[in-house]
Amino acid sequence: MLDQLRDQPADKILSLMAAYRADPREGKIDLGVGVYKDAEGRTPIMRAVRAAEKRVWDEETTKTYTALAGDPAFADALVPLVLGPSVARERVAAVATPGGTGAVRQGFELIGLMNPQATVWVPEPTWPNHLSILKHLGMTVRGYRYFDEATLGVDAEGMLADLSGLQAGDAVLLHGCCHNPTGADPEPATWAKLTDLLRAKGALPFIDLAYLGFGDSLELDAAATRMIAGSGECLIAASCSKNFGIYRERTGLLMAVAGDDATTRLAQANLAYLNRQNYSFPPDHGARVVATILTDAELRADWEAELEEIRAGMLTLRQSLAAELRRLTNSDRFDFLTRHKGMFSRLGATPEQVERMRADHGIYMVGDSRINVAGLNARTVPVLARAMVEAGL
Ligand code: LMR
Repeated sequence: MLDQLRDQPADKILSLMAAYRADPREGKIDLGVGVYKDAEGRTPIMRAVRAAEKRVWDEETTKTYTALAGDPAFADALVPLVLGPSVARERVAAVATPGGTGAVRQGFELIGLMNPQATVWVPEPTWPNHLSILKHLGMTVRGYRYFDEATLGVDAEGMLADLSGLQAGDAVLLHGCCHNPTGADPEPATWAKLTDLLRAKGALPFIDLAYLGFGDSLELDAAATRMIAGSGECLIAASCSKNFGIYRERTGLLMAVAGDDATTRLAQANLAYLNRQNYSFPPDHGARVVATILTDAELRADWEAELEEIRAGMLTLRQSLAAELRRLTNSDRFDFLTRHKGMFSRLGATPEQVERMRADHGIYMVGDSRINVAGLNARTVPVLARAMVEAGL
């Protein structure tokens, strides 16, 4: 029977990781997968994470199952970090999931349980795995304009025009901050218009929040999510992979913001049901570490400080890349880099230009010209800038 299987399409980001590893060139530069790296190219374990892991190791007395929703302490710690005062805690149903991707998957499945006919609207472009999961689930998908190729910023008018075609009961996938793959985030005024439109149409917002704290700050990056959550029902997939640097621990939370007690209970029961069907109990270690950090004043302050160092470092790299390009080209046409937020920027290069940068300079970026800014350092910023100009950008 196994010979009845068909080959599956390769994941573009993971294939790029493999191609980079296989390249024997000394000076190759990895701007591919969205993993934070410091100036030495390492992905460090954050100080607070290490301290919290030690504490968990000392204090944990059992490895028995938690609950289908995960340890409630995790949701109780993460929900306020994401939602602040925008929604009362008792209006938020939440389950721990294996990473942000697990939360995305469970969110799509929950939409299917609510409305099997729902169309899920996704920004064009979006993280390729969103589309892959939706296809795997057999859900109806429609793109909405998001990115303006001319300005390399958000096409706010196009987005609002396309979403005016929403039907009641549809779902709209949004990136809460630090849009992946473009780095272009809507202005607050656009978020406000979008919120009004979604509510007027009776559509369900589903916010993917994978890079909280990587854009402007923990508070500012949560602002759009809080605006939407404060205005009615929504789903939120939060990841702790990036902002706690615990990629391999698979730590995520799916939240459903509901309007009343009965609906919150119903959502909670459905979320727990979905966990049981897919993997039963969610992973606990990363969730326990995150809850330990967020509920201890000292660990939390240290985590926030290190996250801020990481954010500021990426911002400096963005600014120095833009400055180098300004110097090389005598123009400000690359200043969009400083307006992009978070870890990624889409450079606006053609696939041929991307290929040329890889062939000539060993620079690896995703085929749509998404770079991971954290893959750069002071030495490689000028190398990338020169390669971009040589490739004709
Ligand atoms: C990315 O977009 O590079 C990250 O979200 C990692 C992944 O799983 O693709």
